[in-house]
Amino acid sequence: MNESILRVEGISKTYASNRSIFKRATATMRPALSNASFALSKGEILGIVGESGSGKTTLSRCVALLERPDTGRVIFKGEDLVAVSERQLRNRRRAIQTVFQDPYASLNPRQKIGDALAEVMLVHGLVTRDSLRRRVTELLGHVGLPETSANAYPASFSGGQRQRICIARALAAQPDILIADEPVSSLDVSVQAQIVNLILDLRDRHALSVIFIGHDLQLIDFIAPRVLVMLAGEIIETIPADRSIADARHDYTRALAQAVPKLDSLTN
Ligand SMILES: Nc1ncnc2c1ncn2[C@@H]1O[C@H](COP(=O)(O)OP(=O)(O)O)[C@@H](O)[C@H]1O
Ligand SMILES: [Mg+2]
Repeated sequence: MNESILRVEGISKTYASNRSIFKRATATMRPALSNASFALSKGEILGIVGESGSGKTTLSRCVALLERPDTGRVIFKGEDLVAVSERQLRNRRRAIQTVFQDPYASLNPRQKIGDALAEVMLVHGLVTRDSLRRRVTELLGHVGLPETSANAYPASFSGGQRQRICIARALAAQPDILIADEPVSSLDVSVQAQIVNLILDLRDRHALSVIFIGHDLQLIDFIAPRVLVMLAGEIIETIPADRSIADARHDYTRALAQAVPKLDSLTN
């Protein structure tokens, strides 16, 4: 294995209130994430799979430091990001970018696509004013969108195209790690494969390490050689690259290969 770019050690997160309408509030909250540990190698695509509510998004938000875990360490290039101040975090966050499930909620409807991409590069000081336009065109090209997209607003794009824009915006920050949190779950089946292939292609071209999250184990297993399985906030098993999902230890894991929708995933 390559050297690891990221090491997550025992991170946990408990939310003050549980937003599920099905569960009554109780005094002792179950953690959304319990004691999660794993490492990510340079250039690796690591899969994370689990039913709705199993803590996948909480894990990804804590790893990207969009949320601070209650305990544990997120060691990126030798530095524990959980321990750095909010001010220092601002520039550290650039290196770990997330693409979310809902490309509709992720884009500002009043901002032109070109401006959204430019903003990211300017905020992080990654580009000079005179090369801005060229870089925007380049980014759009990387995700298979025409140059003219820069002047359009999100409303004129389909779900799949919006997800391409969200990926371009993540790339604009020149990240080392891309976290894709169910990036195809809200898209038509016909465009899911295109987005998956785009992410695989970008991994190669931009030397990215990728955490790819989903609830369908067959899809995740196709994309990611190594897969972590989550249930009720815990990583319950790891399927290594050389093992088949048919040999999974838990029935739950094998059930995820069928991608049976749970009540939660229909109502969340
Ligand atoms: N902001 C929040 N406030 C309160 N509870 C939350 C919040 N985010 C997630 N949860 C709860 O944490 C658990 C894990 O959620 P989540 O990480 O979104 O799971 P997944 O992404 O696997 O569907 C769920 O029980 C969910 O209701
Ligand atoms: Mg989620």
